[in-house]
Amino acid sequence: MPLFKRRNAQPSAEVDFTKLPRHIAIIMDGNGRWAKKRGLPRTAGHAAGAETFRTIATYCKEIGLDYLTVYAFSTENWKRPQEEVSAIMGLLKKYLLEAIGQMERDKVKMEFFGDLSPLTPELQELCQRTREISKHYEGCQVNICLNYGGRDELLRGAMAYAKDCMEGKADPNHLTQDQFGQYLFSRGVPDPDLVIRPSGELRLSNFLLWQSAYAEFYFTDVLWPDFSKEELHKAIAAYQHRSRRFGGV
Ligand code: FPP
Repeated sequence: MPLFKRRNAQPSAEVDFTKLPRHIAIIMDGNGRWAKKRGLPRTAGHAAGAETFRTIATYCKEIGLDYLTVYAFSTENWKRPQEEVSAIMGLLKKYLLEAIGQMERDKVKMEFFGDLSPLTPELQELCQRTREISKHYEGCQVNICLNYGGRDELLRGAMAYAKDCMEGKADPNHLTQDQFGQYLFSRGVPDPDLVIRPSGELRLSNFLLWQSAYAEFYFTDVLWPDFSKEELHKAIAAYQHRSRRFGGV
């Protein structure tokens, strides 16, 4: 008898589409290794990862998921070589231009979590435009985490709250979790039910630290560019076999 059950042990990948998680969050990891395995530059891995993101985001809308959040660029990713950072920013620009062009058809609401101010003015303007055009759409909401870090988000929230206290807009003696949630980039978005991390890494890497307090985690060795609808089914099926107690019994 093994001491531990396999992490994602599941009877089948059959999904009950009437009981989907409301919010899925994904750490899109493994692009670099995917490229290396093929003798390609890391940037090719990111391009393939961007394609996978398109496929998965479209599929999430099709199946009626309410919220999808993806980790596209962290506060720590600036440490990467300039060429790689520029390539990721270029892919984002390409994606946002396409998304704006197809918005009337797709009607996906788009948000951005993170401090966008270090991005180029062009990219900031594109994010702003995407957010503005799509803000009234109902149905699937896609949140792209850009220059995002969970600790950075919490510090910003704490500073904003302290400022409100000093200005008499908040009471320093009373703060609920819901109230504090309003100071975070994710304000108005329910916490993720399921956090998926491909590529075999078993860590959170500063992603949605506050919001994932009671999330279910699904780890897979599949690299993000190889992630598919079938892989998503497996993750959702695993989630549907979990028992969520939120600290109760
Ligand atoms: C992590 O893999 C991936 C990133 C830091 C960038 C993710 C970016 C994209 C998928 C493309 C742009 C996104 C959108 C939304 C269009 P890694 O490079 O750390 O992989 P490795 O661990 O194998 O090196």
